[in-house]
Parts: sequence; C-alpha cells; structure tokens
Amino acid sequence: MSNLWKTKSLSQLLQNADDSEKGLKRTLSATSLVALGIGAIIGAGLFSLTGIASAENAGPAVVYSFILAALGCAFAGLCYAEFASMIPVAGSAYTYSYATMGEFMAWIIGWDLVLEYALGAATVASSWSQYVAKFMLSFGITLPNSLLHGPWDETSGYVNLPAILIICLLSLLLIKGTKESALINNILVILKVTVVLVFIALGWGFINPENHQPFIPVNEGEVLMGQGKMGFFEFFQSDYFGHYGWSGILRGAGVVFFAFIGFDAVSTAAQEAKNPQKGMPIGIIGSLIICTILYVLFSYVLTGLENYVNFKGDASPVTTAFAKTGYTFLNSALTIAIIAGYTSVMLVMLMGQSRVFYSMSVDGLLPKFFSDVHPKTSTPWKTNIIFMIFVSLFAGFVPVSDLGHMVSIGTLFAFSLVCIGVVVMRKTNPDAVRGFRVPLVPLVPILGVIICVALMAGLPIESWERLGIWLALGLVIYFVYGKKHSKINNQQ
Ligand code: ALA
Repeated sequence: MSNLWKTKSLSQLLQNADDSEKGLKRTLSATSLVALGIGAIIGAGLFSLTGIASAENAGPAVVYSFILAALGCAFAGLCYAEFASMIPVAGSAYTYSYATMGEFMAWIIGWDLVLEYALGAATVASSWSQYVAKFMLSFGITLPNSLLHGPWDETSGYVNLPAILIICLLSLLLIKGTKESALINNILVILKVTVVLVFIALGWGFINPENHQPFIPVNEGEVLMGQGKMGFFEFFQSDYFGHYGWSGILRGAGVVFFAFIGFDAVSTAAQEAKNPQKGMPIGIIGSLIICTILYVLFSYVLTGLENYVNFKGDASPVTTAFAKTGYTFLNSALTIAIIAGYTSVMLVMLMGQSRVFYSMSVDGLLPKFFSDVHPKTSTPWKTNIIFMIFVSLFAGFVPVSDLGHMVSIGTLFAFSLVCIGVVVMRKTNPDAVRGFRVPLVPLVPILGVIICVALMAGLPIESWERLGIWLALGLVIYFVYGKKHSKINNQQ
C-alpha cells in the first residue's frame, strides 16, 4: 500500500549524495557557487524591469522596491541556506519537501519548479533576442520582426528565432559538462558585474539631483485617504493603487522580484559542491547580498541620470540613461555585456532544471532516462535535450509577459513551501547537523511566507489559473506514473 505522505529520511538522502561516484561530480568551490548565484540573478530583471517599475510604479523610490523585494528573498534565502547545508543533494526545494512534507508535496514542488527554471530560461531568452536585434541594428543589420516575435506577441510574428537558437546552444554547452559550464559562467559573471560597476561609477558624477525630486512621487489616492476622503478598500480597488506613493513601492517590489529570482538555483547544484555545508550558505546568501547592494546603487544612479517618466515602455533603460553621461562610445560594450549577462541567467536556469528532474528520476517519480548521466561528461544529457526542446517552444512562441508572471508565481509558491519546510524539519529532525541555521525560527520563515503570498496576491488572476492547470497536469502524471514507480514507496 503506497503512502502519499511518506517522507524520505535524512540518512537516506545523505547516502544518495555519497553515492555521487556514479552520478554528479563535486567540482564547484564556494567562489564558483557565489558566481553561479550572481549568474542566475542579474539579468532581465535589472536591465529591463528597473526602468519600467520606476516609470509606472515607484519613481526614484524603485530603490526602496528593491530593498523590499530583497527582504522577502532574504527570508526565503536563509531557509534555502539551512536546507542546502543540511541536505546537500541535487534537487533543491524538491528534495527538501521530500524530507519534510512527504512524497506528494515533493512531487508538487518539483513539478512547480519547472515554472521557475524552464520558463525562467524561456522568459530571459525571449527578451534576450530583443537586445540582440538592437545590437545587430547598430551594425546596420535588421532582423525581420516576424523572426523576433511569436504569433501571440503584441508585435505579432512567426517565431522568436534567436531565443530558440540561444536555448539550444546553451543546452549543448551544459551537456558538455558542469565544469566547463561553470568556467564560462564565471567569465560571464565578471563581465556583467563589471558593466553594473562601470555604470554606477561613471554615472554617479552625472546624477541630476532634480531627477530624484520628489523621491517618492505623490499618489493622489493616498493623499485623499490621508484626508479621510477615501477608504482603504476603495483605494485598493482604484487605479491609484500601485501608481506611485507607498503602494507604488509595494507593487514595484512585485515587479522587480523577478530580478532576484535565481539565488535558489545555487542549491540545485548542492551535489556538485566541494564543501556544501559551508559553500551552500555562502553561495546563496553571498550572491543575494552582493546583488542587493548592486541593485540599490544601480537603480539610484539610473533614476538620477534620467527622469523616471521617460522610462515608460523603454525595454533598454540602461542605454537611455547612459546617454546622459557623455560616455556614449561605451554603449556597444555595455550592450554586449548585458547580452552576456542574460546568457548566464539562462545557463544556470537550464542547469537547475535538469538537476531537479535528475533527482525526481533517481527517486523513481520520473522515468529513468531523466537521470541517465553521460559516461564521458557526467551530465544528465537526456534531460538537457528534452528541456532544450520544451524551453525552445515556450521561448519561441509564448509572449514574454505571460512567461514572466508564470515564473514569478511558480517561484513564490516554491519559496513559501521551503519556508514552511524549515519549521517542519526543526520539529521532525531537531538534532540533525545543520551547517547553517536560520535565526529566529519560526518568525523568519513565517515572515517569508507572508511576503511571498502577498507578492503572489498581486499577480494577475490568469497566472493563478495557469498555475492551477499546470499543477493539475502534474497530479495526473503523478498518479499515473510517479506513485507506482516511486522507489521509497516500493521499498515496503
Ligand atoms: N533574476 C533573473 C533575471 O533578472 C531571472 O533575469
């Protein structure tokens, strides 16, 4: 008789990790793990959404939006760090749920992570191609719109071809090997951190203080509320909510949350970390701290160089703002580095995805070929190929905003479950060795859940519906295949 709620014991999990002789190799140092995190984090969120969030929601106070979003991620990040230092097995949130809330929840979260990693890669690929098109244009090469947009985009076309090409290229690179991928990732990370630092350093001297006045643009609705002329619910349902003022900072945080997605991808590589007890917390929290500092400074300079109202509808605010510095000859270099930055986000997302399915397959919840590793390269190459096709289809044909919302809702759902999992694990395995402990349990995990759910509530209703459909599809697969083949259930 199989049991949906059966958990995997900690010793079983650690034993699996020790068996890595036959599976993944431990090649990643703490520095590589921080780079892996930064590689997944800095991308479309920073280089595209900062301008949009400041123009439409928060004004220069997008700086505060970044701080708020970082706070939400920090709570979840601490929870990830505790789990990753305790259960250094590939599979991330999926594996943690298996150990705390049982097989059924583990399946749900593993299935949900496809939204974060696979669709995350598709989202970034989709907007990557727009930057590439811009770059080509500077050399006089015009790519036809019909090959840059899918049929359901606002600018309708046939297919987003560059997006498909980059996904295929990166998937092949991943098949070649984790070490090679980590090396290329390190180079890409150096390049994109350099561009952010150059932007901050050169831009700082050209900040026009007038652009920062008022720092928090007035929200008429909030003023009316202050005067007692409007009730809170009326305000919440009105168009005033989220457009400047404090509510704008809040909604802006929901938008720029996308810019932080990826720090958790570090934990998917736990089985490839040289010293996971130390490396995992350093990788997760280190990359989150570095990115938060960079984001706050970057958004301060961006909104200081150009008035926020001028970023409306601007997908490349960096070049717009940089035009104010007098260093415009650096524009092409900047664009190349941004393109490189996007590339490393996709690389880490694709890698994270294959590692989650690898773990699910090792557990018998998915067919064995998902965990077959290549005899020469030691990478789960069959999974890489399947996701190459799956992600390409989404990147090539689905509009970027729909993809982005799906990624956010899927990620926030996963973060919430990980926060809950830490509290459960403290109760069920209080004495287990933890390389890192979340402070103030259960307060920190509870705050993490509250912030994640609040951000989910701000997302459009369609993304909730799609999440429901995706999870329902996952349930069918679980009951038809996973439940019957689950190794842990068949041990009885
Ligand atoms: N955080 C990643 C980005 O901004 C997903 O592109």
